[in-house]
Amino acid sequence: MRQLRIGMAGLGQGAASTMPAIDVMPEYALVAGADMNPAMRAGFLATYPGTKTYETVAEMCAAGDVDAVWVATPNRFHCEHAIEAMRHGKHVVVEKPMAVDMDEADRMVETAEKYGVRLACGHTRSLSIWNRAMRRIALGGALGAVTAIHIWAYTDWLIRPRTADELDPEQGGGIVFRQGPHQIDTVRLLGGGLVRSVRAQTGRWLEARPVPGYYTAFLEFEDGTPATIMHNGYGYFVMSELYPWVAAEERFTDADRARMRRDLLSGTRDEDSEKADWRIGGRRDPTKKKHTGRPGWKPFDLGPVEVSCERGVMRSAENGIVVYSDRGREELDLRDLQRPEADPSGGLTLAILGELYDSVIHGRPLFHDGAWGRATLEVVLALIDSARERREILLSRQVAMPEDYDQLLPLPAAWA
Ligand SMILES: NC(=O)c1ccc[n+]([C@@H]2O[C@H](COP(=O)([O-])OP(=O)(O)OC[C@H]3O[C@@H](n4cnc5c(N)ncnc54)[C@H](O)[C@@H]3O)[C@@H](O)[C@H]2O)c1
Repeated sequence: MRQLRIGMAGLGQGAASTMPAIDVMPEYALVAGADMNPAMRAGFLATYPGTKTYETVAEMCAAGDVDAVWVATPNRFHCEHAIEAMRHGKHVVVEKPMAVDMDEADRMVETAEKYGVRLACGHTRSLSIWNRAMRRIALGGALGAVTAIHIWAYTDWLIRPRTADELDPEQGGGIVFRQGPHQIDTVRLLGGGLVRSVRAQTGRWLEARPVPGYYTAFLEFEDGTPATIMHNGYGYFVMSELYPWVAAEERFTDADRARMRRDLLSGTRDEDSEKADWRIGGRRDPTKKKHTGRPGWKPFDLGPVEVSCERGVMRSAENGIVVYSDRGREELDLRDLQRPEADPSGGLTLAILGELYDSVIHGRPLFHDGAWGRATLEVVLALIDSARERREILLSRQVAMPEDYDQLLPLPAAWA
């Protein structure tokens, strides 16, 4: 098997959460990392001996020993670093959000075309098997057309340790930029991709966090299908409480969250060291987490997904999904649809890297390309504009997800 050599741009928390999935993929060899922080480079080298490290992304791209670059630097650098990599002929996977404005997204798409490389966007929870299976069942037609989609999340996203850039809306900080893409990609996948308009409100309810920590949005698709998405990241109520099989896996307990919020208000929190705990070499280093078994569904930061159809409903459930139809209630265990390796990320990283590999090596379409990511960014920006201007925003850069995406997904026989 031909291996693609991959280099990580940015070796922080997001990168560390991604690397264990790359480890289990024979299609890829993780060979290099770039980060301006020497401690991150040292941690990376200790975890991946024999790799090369660079102080800048430009140096890593110029060195010529990688085929693809995973961009996990802060949001304001996504465009610059993705373009730098593509100019050097590298394929790119860029973290969500792909960029902070539409001009950046346009330039990234143009650069991929100009240099003939793949730009993969949409490393989001839409890629988890549960959502993809619901989409295939909907396309199968047995439930009729999709008529409405709803996703709500209650998490502690906003009060987790944060860097200054994560709390600056100008740099793509806040819950809409960072978490919106998970829910938006998911409703776009399930609803076909073409959102017509967005009406939204955002909330900034904690003075110590000068960014939105809440949003609610009503999306209408071109065919009239409605979708609602909501995320409350203030950490008073965390949705996993409703799902006993995951409650124990939360990062923080109720008591932790209350203390974190109190320390934020009194200005006594040391977020730099708390965030360092979650990076490579830290106390809670994600690369050291052991993953085994056949992972079932968890709400993660996406929240449970409900899809109404003309003749039924589908929703997330413990081992996959539940389908309610004129046949009654059927619980589908989808754990075996995941690749056999335990997938630390919940399936996302394997999915996007698998898609990139198939596209580069086998010439298959890249479905989550720059145009897909740009359409999701357009919804993110419209959500923010709609909240500010208190009006419905019409969209113009949407693209459909081709029907043949996931054509071969091996659904349980009754729904194949
Ligand atoms: N935190 C997560 O769990 C998570 C998960 C998935 C995706 N992400 C995404 O990863 C990205 C980074 O977030 P994070 O939480 O990892 O932040 P982070 O601060 O932990 O990591 C960013 C890293 O980039 C480095 N860096 C900053 N500017 C640089 C530059 N110009 N050149 C080279 N290195 C540079 C920093 O030193 C740092 O190590 C964001 O786009 C975020 O959406 C984060």
